[in-house]
Amino acid sequence: MSTIEVSDLHKSFGDLEVLRGIDFRVEPTEVVCVIGPSGSGKSTLLRCINLLEQPTSGTIRVGDVEVTDPDVDIDAVRRRIGMVFQAFNLFPHLTVLRNLTIAQQRVLRRSKKDADRVARDNLARVGLAEKETSYPAQLSGGQQQRVAIARALSMGPDLMLFDEPTSALDPELVGDVLAVMRKLAGEGMTMLVVTHEMSFAREVADRVVFMDDGVIVEEGDPAQVIGNPRHERTRTFLRRVLDPASADVSETVTKRVEGA
Ligand SMILES: Nc1ncnc2c1ncn2[C@@H]1O[C@H](COP(=O)(O)OP(=O)(O)O)[C@@H](O)[C@H]1O
Ligand SMILES: [Mg+2]
Repeated sequence: MSTIEVSDLHKSFGDLEVLRGIDFRVEPTEVVCVIGPSGSGKSTLLRCINLLEQPTSGTIRVGDVEVTDPDVDIDAVRRRIGMVFQAFNLFPHLTVLRNLTIAQQRVLRRSKKDADRVARDNLARVGLAEKETSYPAQLSGGQQQRVAIARALSMGPDLMLFDEPTSALDPELVGDVLAVMRKLAGEGMTMLVVTHEMSFAREVADRVVFMDDGVIVEEGDPAQVIGNPRHERTRTFLRRVLDPASADVSETVTKRVEGA
């Protein structure tokens, strides 16, 4: 049974249909990277999976739970899903350790002793064991994002959703976060990752999904989708991402010619 199964998912905000019939699945231990232009609906898809957004129609199953069932226990679903956003969303007034224990104690009702132990294990996992008494502002962006990953892991999720986890980071800090994600993937964590890091997607993903304008345009083996895409829309997007400078110039030139 797959970990995530999305069938004919539609989502509208008022008159704007952002997801226009999405079908896809993620199998246990699979790493799926979602790529696509800004505004194509990637974040909305992730947010529908843990019900931060209410789908307009269609069904979503996570494990054996139908998320889109009106009677679903939303909190129970969310406890199984770790979510890491572009913005780290740590509590600035709490130490790193406390950031990792607060939800364990309040939501999972773990004792302080158990929560501390789980938090320390996960800080070690992301290479930040020595930072437990620091406050978020004392850490680099890359370290803060690794704390956010350790916080999500401390809840013992069945799967992890990442929404552009390295997009807010200075380039030299991206590698440490990707290394943590690569390690998690190697440990068999099921992961759905929205990212613009094509070399990560190529190396780590089992499958790459290209979304544009609310639909999945193509999906498949990373080397095929990224290296030899079937669709022109995918090729255009990859040119822009892989070589932004040249893409911008040729586009400007094309527009000028078209406008002339
Ligand atoms: N809460 C919202 N209300 C209205 N429009 C939204 C909302 N969230 C997203 N959108 C719109 O939905 C479209 C897709 O957004 P998003 O899922 O964030 O795309 P992506 O993550 O691929 O950049 C965009 O046009 C965005 O402006
Ligand atoms: Mg987004």
